[in-house]
Amino acid sequence: MESIDWKNLPFGYLKTDYNIRCQFKDGKWGSLEVSSSEYFNIHIAATGLHYGQEVFEGLKAYRGKDNKIRLFRCRDNAQRMFDSGSYIQMAAPPVDLFVEAVQKAVKLNERFVPPYESGATLYVRPLLIGTGAQVGVKPADEYLFVVFTTPVGPYFKTGFKPLDVMITRNSDRAAPLGTGHVKVGGNYAAGLTAGVAAQQLGYASCLYLDAKEKKYIDECGPANFFGIKNNTYITPDSKSILPSITNRSLMTLAQDLGIKVERRPIEVPELETFEEAGACGTAAVITPIKKIFDPETNKVYDYGSEAGPVSVKLYNLLRAIQYGDAEDTHGWITFVE
Ligand SMILES: Cc1ncc(COP(=O)(O)O)c(C=O)c1O
Repeated sequence: MESIDWKNLPFGYLKTDYNIRCQFKDGKWGSLEVSSSEYFNIHIAATGLHYGQEVFEGLKAYRGKDNKIRLFRCRDNAQRMFDSGSYIQMAAPPVDLFVEAVQKAVKLNERFVPPYESGATLYVRPLLIGTGAQVGVKPADEYLFVVFTTPVGPYFKTGFKPLDVMITRNSDRAAPLGTGHVKVGGNYAAGLTAGVAAQQLGYASCLYLDAKEKKYIDECGPANFFGIKNNTYITPDSKSILPSITNRSLMTLAQDLGIKVERRPIEVPELETFEEAGACGTAAVITPIKKIFDPETNKVYDYGSEAGPVSVKLYNLLRAIQYGDAEDTHGWITFVE
């Protein structure tokens, strides 16, 4: 096998051996098929191409010191894909079918699961797309569920080093009663311009505000946001952010560690009062935030260039569970055998 520089992998696509596919046709899901092609044929009138009937997921497989491969909260990703697909009128794979497909995809690409302590993981990307032809705006009657994998390094180049983000005020990724709470591709299309603009100004990511009032923090690019003060983990309560599985896990772990947890709206000026701030997600893990720039007021909220103690504690515990170095007391791990 071509040698892979595990320690310097980007968060990008690298071909692996196989992907899994499953078709929904005539009102039912077929069996899982193994493919070694990176392509599929699609009807020119497929709803996934025209009307955005497309949802996806992202999770990781971790190789432990014991060489075993672990998936983290895979059933939660399965449930979220089901919820996302259902929300935009798609037939979505049942939880067990999703888990079986993910297990199979990882097992078949086992040689691409990076070694323990390389800092890299095998990213798993389940995709669901409307393949049935429609010309009127209607849900498809045929769907394709695909799971592919690719080994990745950290999402943000800095890894666990704090980075700078910029508040976005001139565009929204999701409407107040729109699709922000589900993982549809359209949300990411809507956020591309703001993301590129932030990066051009030297920021790692944009920080979205609520679409209705531009008063509250929503989320941070492809990750949820949290702030820490007075031994309390505070994270936005908003109907237009993606319910992050990582964030949910961190709230649980914070409680385990005796840290208080508050899930509530966060007004922009409250940023001033946080001792630490961070972005969290499967790809971002915990990425501490150094500075937040608000272009409206020219204000910079500065949390320092080292990760704060609470972020460090949470990061270490989460990673330890994912890699099997700490006990899985919440039943979050599924082994790939
Ligand atoms: C918009 C958005 N927010 C938050 C997250 C983090 O969610 P999770 O922790 O489930 O990966 C993601 C990534 O899936 C995302 O795309």
